[in-house]
Amino acid sequence: MKVEPASSIDGAIAVPGVKGISQRAVLLGAIAEGESRIEGFGRAADTETAISVVRQLGVEVDEDGPETVRVHGAGLRGLRAPGEPLDFGNAGTVLRLSSGILAGQEGRFELVGDESLSARPQERIAEPLREMGAHVETTDGHAPVVIEGGPLSSIRYELPVASAQVKSCVLLAGLFAAGRTTVVEPLPTRDHTELMLETAGVKVTRQQRRVSVGPPEALRLGEVVVPGDFSAAAPFVVAATLLPGSELTIHDVGLNPRRIGLLDVLARMGARITIFHRHRDGGEPVGDLEVRSAELTATAVTASEVPLLVDELPLFALAAACARGESTVWGAEELRVKETDRIETVTNSLKALGVRVTPRDDGFWVRGVPTRPKGGRMASHGDHRIAMLGAVAGLVSGKGVDVEDAEAVAVSFPGFFELLDSVTQR
Ligand code: S3P
Repeated sequence: MKVEPASSIDGAIAVPGVKGISQRAVLLGAIAEGESRIEGFGRAADTETAISVVRQLGVEVDEDGPETVRVHGAGLRGLRAPGEPLDFGNAGTVLRLSSGILAGQEGRFELVGDESLSARPQERIAEPLREMGAHVETTDGHAPVVIEGGPLSSIRYELPVASAQVKSCVLLAGLFAAGRTTVVEPLPTRDHTELMLETAGVKVTRQQRRVSVGPPEALRLGEVVVPGDFSAAAPFVVAATLLPGSELTIHDVGLNPRRIGLLDVLARMGARITIFHRHRDGGEPVGDLEVRSAELTATAVTASEVPLLVDELPLFALAAACARGESTVWGAEELRVKETDRIETVTNSLKALGVRVTPRDDGFWVRGVPTRPKGGRMASHGDHRIAMLGAVAGLVSGKGVDVEDAEAVAVSFPGFFELLDSVTQR
């Protein structure tokens, strides 16, 4: 897919519902009592996987429209082991969160994924689940993962890495364990699971880096209204910031403070982004973003900030490539175990476009203005975030960008290119 240079970004848009909230609502809905109704469901390959997996587990799901999904809960221990492997495709979050739930069910479950998912580390979830009493086997630390669930005991678990997926997996297993299960994180990570469990009636106790849950009698989710996904808004935020004369509004974006680190980082680089109409939906903060173009200066992203913008670091690298001075990211070794090794894929793709960027073990270093992305051809390696990075790079670089495997975007945002085109002035 060739993305041509643009002069500005202009207009008002909405983006698909938060992927992580949509997935969590399907999974919790599957073990809740009665019907859970999800409005604003974020359609994407990964969220479709959440639906297909719970269907494989015997849960009925009605899709009333593109953004309305009703899940008919089977109750806390009502999932049925299918006779075949559960297929998680590319959806790492769904696999890791489901593992916590399956550890508390009767039966044997085999969890498989595509090539990229099968290369990602799974001992990080297997280890705490074994500590709780589940029988879990990985394949050399990866999927296929086999889980034999049963009675669990609670643990206090100190996360070795700042990962919301691992935290969520342990908390979900905690719903089936006698006593209170506590997770301590090295740094605060996104808390969509905690907020949704509270909404569903679970007694959650929280401090900044510590969260505990006890086993509920039942979950009741009711209606979940999913706001727009900040990670889906982020390419538009960066494009509108970088293209002179841009003015873009993005309506109803989820503004969970543990998701929007990119806004703080861009603000200190000089970006002009304002939040309007702040409100809450199911405990999640929501608002409209108004973005105007700005000249940026370089900055350093430090380890403690990384979890707050972990999925936006590829876009940060592009913003840094267009900012005055030298920017760095460190403490981001988790990027190496995402859908691709994103330290490699970010630096290789930007290098191919003429950016002066150097990988580090735990991040990267980017030289910005006066060097600017020239454009050219880059590979996304089937990683949706790298494909989106390529699209925005195409708008802001001299000769546009040819993005290989651009269809990878469908993992998180089908219709992305069409929406981008609708606000792009050439
Ligand atoms: C996610 C957590 C993050 C993030 C991923 C979604 C979640 O992963 O990168 O896209 O929904 O919990 P880690 O927890 O592995 O950092």
